[in-house]
Amino acid sequence: MHTSFAGKKIVLGVTGSIAAFKVAGWVSALAKDEARVRVIMTQAATRFVTPLTFAALSGEKVVSDMFADDEGPEISHIELGKDADIILIAPATAHTIARMAHGLADDLLSATVLAARARIIVCPAMNGQMYAHPATQANTARLRELNYQVIEPACGMMACKDEGQGRLPEWEQVREILLRHLSAGDLQGQRILITAGPTREPLDPARFISNRSSGKMGYAMARAAYRRGAEVTLISGPTALPCPEGVRRVSIQTAEEMRTAVLAHFSEATIVLKSAAVADFRPETRYADKVKKDQAELSLGLIANPDILQELGRKKTGQLLVGFAAESGHLLQEGKKKLQKKNLDLIAVNNINQENTGFEVDTNQITLIDRQNVIELPLASKERTADLILDHVITLL
Ligand code: PMT
Repeated sequence: MHTSFAGKKIVLGVTGSIAAFKVAGWVSALAKDEARVRVIMTQAATRFVTPLTFAALSGEKVVSDMFADDEGPEISHIELGKDADIILIAPATAHTIARMAHGLADDLLSATVLAARARIIVCPAMNGQMYAHPATQANTARLRELNYQVIEPACGMMACKDEGQGRLPEWEQVREILLRHLSAGDLQGQRILITAGPTREPLDPARFISNRSSGKMGYAMARAAYRRGAEVTLISGPTALPCPEGVRRVSIQTAEEMRTAVLAHFSEATIVLKSAAVADFRPETRYADKVKKDQAELSLGLIANPDILQELGRKKTGQLLVGFAAESGHLLQEGKKKLQKKNLDLIAVNNINQENTGFEVDTNQITLIDRQNVIELPLASKERTADLILDHVITLL
């Protein structure tokens, strides 16, 4: 039961802010993800972006006038609100927020909001002074009381060149919030501990041993688990990725630090997903000062790092333990060996010799091995792969 936009009905209310042009990109992304987007524009919004832009991007007629003769009964405010999965108001001006807070219904968008049964999500975007004004703050508080979700605007420089809090949030953040609302919530009540990324084993202040893991697979697991209602703790090695919405992240560098962080959170977890690529070895000596060219020995002494997953396999008390394996051959054999040796419930094996799978890329192709089954997942985005792994985890709970 993976989460996606495919077939979902999103009503997007666009109001009169310069940020309306950014939302055109959101419509394009939603349409690519196969959502059905119906755009309602306020009259003011049509002064910033033409309805034709949204119509072309959504492939649907854009509506703005409650009394237009040619819009037909099938797009009345009642119809628009009735079968929407989500109503998203973005950008929401101070004026539109005030009207919604007071239950006004004098245009198509506000009437649709009042008539809707769907979840209503509001993205305020305006000048920082306007957002901070007690009237706007009281109106957004009223929307929250009415059970609308108000996404805090971002801080930074606005179109008017003022600095402050009033910028439209980034699409990635809004996308995650929408997907969480659309999910079945089938991991609610689960506390999931996920490891992601590489570890770095320092040789001196300038150099380290590491591997090619980007963290993409583990972060995709964390996002998918949170969307599906789990409480997620992510123990992450160094990556360039932002912390996923709603996820508690603990950043570490070395395998030893990862072990300490994992053990600190292990007893409270119900599911553990170990997708990190932990360095198996670290330099025998860690030099306090940078090793100079002329003092360097030609061979580097290494010692083994603790096998964190194997330790968890010995210590587990009811947690569902999922390992990952990056293999370059004999996938089934190696996967089964690790499943037994580390006392796992499931192992997700990727072939790192194949194009488009494993390290760094955005796609993966995993073979899932549990005590009874071997399941070949299709080559898919890491986002979809994460959902498919979680689908299987749920069957084992
Ligand atoms: O981060 P990406 O660029 O998206 O790439 C994703 C990935 C290829 C890193 C990921 O999908 C993956 O396969 N992760 C596991 C890689 C790995 O370390 O495999 P392994 O066969 O060396 O280890 C097996 C398991 O033991 C893993 O769950 C690992 O976290 C764990 N382990 C390994 C060594 C060690 N000292 N301690 C461990 O806990």
